[in-house]
Amino acid sequence: MKVEFRVNGKPSSYQGPAGGPSLLWHLRSGLRLTGTKNGCNEGHCGACTVIVDGKAVLACKTPLDSLQGKEISTIESLSDKEKLHCLIYAFAQAGAVQCGFCTPGFIMAAKALLDRDPNPGEEAVKKALARNVCRCTGYVKIMEAIALASRLKAEGREWIARSSLSSPDPARIGDPIRRIDALAKASGETVFADDLYAEGMLHAKVLRSSRPHARILGIDASEASRVPGVARILLARDIPGENRYGPIRKDQPVLARDRVRYMGDAVAAVFAETEAAGEEALGKIRVEYQDLPVLVGFDEALSPEAERLHEGRDNLIAVMESGRGDVEEGFAKAALKVEGEYHTQYIEHGYLEPESCLAAPGADGVLTIYVASQGPPMDIGEIAPVAALPPEKIRIVGMPMGGGFGGKEDISVQILAALGALATGRPVKYSFSRRESIAVSGKRHATRLRYSLGRSEEHTSELQSPNTI
Ligand code: FES
Ligand code: FES
Repeated sequence: MKVEFRVNGKPSSYQGPAGGPSLLWHLRSGLRLTGTKNGCNEGHCGACTVIVDGKAVLACKTPLDSLQGKEISTIESLSDKEKLHCLIYAFAQAGAVQCGFCTPGFIMAAKALLDRDPNPGEEAVKKALARNVCRCTGYVKIMEAIALASRLKAEGREWIARSSLSSPDPARIGDPIRRIDALAKASGETVFADDLYAEGMLHAKVLRSSRPHARILGIDASEASRVPGVARILLARDIPGENRYGPIRKDQPVLARDRVRYMGDAVAAVFAETEAAGEEALGKIRVEYQDLPVLVGFDEALSPEAERLHEGRDNLIAVMESGRGDVEEGFAKAALKVEGEYHTQYIEHGYLEPESCLAAPGADGVLTIYVASQGPPMDIGEIAPVAALPPEKIRIVGMPMGGGFGGKEDISVQILAALGALATGRPVKYSFSRRESIAVSGKRHATRLRYSLGRSEEHTSELQSPNTI
């Protein structure tokens, strides 16, 4: 079937099977309009919000074959070299932009609202933004930005000269300071790692364990390797260096060879001309598993009878000690002692931008990895022994970070993209899906903490004073 529509005033079309790709895929991969972001591809975050015939819609949930004759506007339609829409101006001016990954989606949702209701009340704004999630800025500044844009529009200033935001305000102590990158982020011009495209680029797709704990009896990738568009499939035996990484003990396999230890261990990596070819190949890799006992929770894992997760050692990952002064003496002298056991839950960082990188081999033998990383030297230290490269042959180029909160310190996409680029001699992009991000990325671990606290006589009397907290 063929569908014709217009994007930002220009004709565009899709020809292919009904129920084909989404509008988000067409905008980003087809037209390279990367201001519209892919935060989840499942309709949960709002980062992909665009306007279709005056209505804010989620591009990831909009099939291309539903767009016959429609007018689509993306964030790119709200600015040019000379001018900005007042919403872009207002988001930058009001401090409603931090990482910026969510911002174009918020602005498009707000634009649809202001077009039909130029002076919306707070409830109307909240309703219009109900599908948009921001993890960094919070919503107060965003509400202020939309109120400012509404006032500007009422004053006849819907479009504002770009030069009005091109240089930072002269700041005095106490003045709010505008982020220097706020304009680029609000207008969708900031290039995040997943927005990169390179000549001859391959896409990485990774088969992950479907078992929480199992022995691998066999992997058959022969049928997958025959899928048109597949350039290379890597298994554990293809890794040129050490098959392990990890921030504490380096005890995670890059590609599992004979055992998987959680539903997320990488088993095979496919490098293909298109994402669709990579995904098709993943579905054709056969893995034979033999299930092993599953350990759930601290007590089971630390029990002397527990299955050992790694050869030759128990299941305790680390003992870390720190101290200051004479603790025993302190407790002996304490007038008040408190002991307790406390629990915290797993915490997923939930940044809006899923992990992504582009690895590109250079003619000089240097492998360049474009990634939003919170620890580039640590990345090099993890990649080099796996890729069997000296560290000076790996260069990390830091990309803007669509939220991290400490969760982008660890290896996620970097090593497998690097191995793909080395194995094929071509640039490789590897972007986590939201599901992959949640399954695979490092978390703040759940904890069980036992505390003993003591207070001296002097501080105990302070504690009992009604004026002291
Ligand atoms: Fe579409 Fe998240 S809602 S990318
Ligand atoms: Fe909203 Fe980062 S600024 S998610």
